[in-house]
Amino acid sequence: MAHHEHSAEDRAGSRQPQRFDPARAARLDDPARLAYLPPDDLLALLAPPHGSTLLDFGAGTGTYAIELARRRPDLRVIALDEQPEMLALLRQKLEASGAPANITPALPGEMEARGQTADRVLALNVLHEMGDVPLRALPRLLAPGGWVLFVDWNAAVERPVGPPRDHVYAPPEALERLRALGYHAVSARDFPYHYALRAS
Ligand SMILES: C[S@@+](CC[C@H](N)C(=O)[O-])C[C@H]1O[C@@H](n2cnc3c(N)ncnc32)[C@H](O)[C@@H]1O
Repeated sequence: MAHHEHSAEDRAGSRQPQRFDPARAARLDDPARLAYLPPDDLLALLAPPHGSTLLDFGAGTGTYAIELARRRPDLRVIALDEQPEMLALLRQKLEASGAPANITPALPGEMEARGQTADRVLALNVLHEMGDVPLRALPRLLAPGGWVLFVDWNAAVERPVGPPRDHVYAPPEALERLRALGYHAVSARDFPYHYALRAS
């Protein structure tokens, strides 16, 4: 099956069924993001055990995967994205001197093929564009006791950045969607423009 057909099919159920356009990848590298959504705060929520595996699901260009991997060289960070174009941009960053060595890019299916699971999953700005099929499948990537932190743009707050309100969820809607798909999900905290939910 062609990669793009696969994506379109897998997107059903999401609020914003358009796939992320790699032509807009530069936005993901805007350093302002690190101020309104600090990587340290995400690490504090994730609290990955020493030496554990952290999966950045829908990692894009790896902005956060790199920040987290740099702060925690003990972690094994897997940066997974369905678009090879995005992973190519991430790989370019990993080739630069000073890039953290503890990141492995992965396409969907590669973790299963390698028998890998994750203790923690960060899904950042991806819930609103993630279809029901991959969302249902995600818990299979969790190690026993593992869980997912869904962090996404909040439709319930005024934002000067991010997608239009009707493309994203308010926290109760996100919780409801996750619960309808069989997750146990609870609110973790709010950021100025994002909500964070803990789910497994
Ligand atoms: C808005 S970007 C966010 C990227 C990154 N998390 C960040 O915050 O910088 C969403 C990314 O999720 C990826 N994506 C969407 N659905 C996916 C899925 N089902 N499996 C893997 N990647 C997915 C897209 O290809 C895109 O690169």
